[in-house]
Amino acid sequence: MIKAVVVRESGVALEEVDEEFLGDGGIVVDVAYSDLNYKDGLAVTGRPGVVRTMPLIAGIDVVGKVAESNDPRWSPGDWLVLNGAGQSETRHGGFAQRAHVEPTYAVALPDGISPERAAALGTAGYTAALAVLRIVSEGAKPEDGPVLVTGATGGVGSIATMLLASAGFEVAAVTGRVESHEDYLHTLGATQIVPRSEFEEKGRPLQKATYAGVVDSVGGQVLANAIARTQPGGTVSACGLAGSAALPATVMPFILRGVTLAGIDSVWASLEDRADAWRILARGVDPELLDDITTTITLDQVIDAGAQLLDGKLHGRTLVRIAD
Ligand SMILES: NC(=O)c1ccc[n+]([C@@H]2O[C@H](COP(=O)([O-])OP(=O)(O)OC[C@H]3O[C@@H](n4cnc5c(N)ncnc54)[C@H](OP(=O)(O)O)[C@@H]3O)[C@@H](O)[C@H]2O)c1
Repeated sequence: MIKAVVVRESGVALEEVDEEFLGDGGIVVDVAYSDLNYKDGLAVTGRPGVVRTMPLIAGIDVVGKVAESNDPRWSPGDWLVLNGAGQSETRHGGFAQRAHVEPTYAVALPDGISPERAAALGTAGYTAALAVLRIVSEGAKPEDGPVLVTGATGGVGSIATMLLASAGFEVAAVTGRVESHEDYLHTLGATQIVPRSEFEEKGRPLQKATYAGVVDSVGGQVLANAIARTQPGGTVSACGLAGSAALPATVMPFILRGVTLAGIDSVWASLEDRADAWRILARGVDPELLDDITTTITLDQVIDAGAQLLDGKLHGRTLVRIAD
């Protein structure tokens, strides 16, 4: 039997399921690690917006060893990393000891990253990398000025801060938890800590052009003000909606400053973009610093930890150790 966190109409629980429950097709993976992201918090607390078919095993990330494969890209014993690609939405995910993985979007464990650290980075890290790559590919350079990171103590925000700082950017980190997490953000490489309250009031459509780019995981008024404070030609990578799905902005920054609002979708990113993202994670994340910001839990702690994440009680990354 396989231990798994299963989302049903009647609720979410750690259960024992049989191999048949995992469904046909895909390649068989012994899951070693998964991790906790905002979407996982929603799924394991039974909130809407992520799981679209039930019953379903939650967990948007899988890091594990291939046990059986009929796909020529994969052989038994290979380490595989699969982020998103419908896991915990319409396909069973990584909060289980075994997974039948649809391998189209899977990547091999990146060189220089251990399985444990690949899961500690997880979707949050890989999304942060996509967001930073987008800002840089649109032309932002460290000498252009600071890059703003919102939701900075969260998973996406923490890894984005680390990546930007290691690439030589000055990072202005927006957080609702200045008092308790200022030191944490400086350790990640942030140079300025900005209280979230400075971004929560409705502001003018064009404000002082300050930031060379933005990585936003919050949305709403915070995103609107971030766009209004972006320098001419700068890029805002919109990753998330931890605050709100609204966008109470005007077109002024786009038509008068040439600001680009770039949407980041980690779930269905191409294999090429995934490989690029994992390459910069391997290069730009200090492994020891990653260990310092990672809390490890086990499968039986996932439901409680998901609720804590949504309550804003966690920070950094939460690794889920699956294998005994
Ligand atoms: N586009 C994609 O493919 C993709 C991939 C991964 C994640 N996401 C999205 O990105 C967002 C962040 O994900 P995550 O895994 O990093 O979550 P997380 O670890 O919970 O971090 C979210 C952070 O947002 C801030 N925050 C929380 N509630 C807020 C509120 N009501 N108003 C303003 N800020 C708030 C907090 O930072 P402070 O306390 O520092 O302010 C929190 O640490 C989520 O919406 C998630 O769904 C999208």
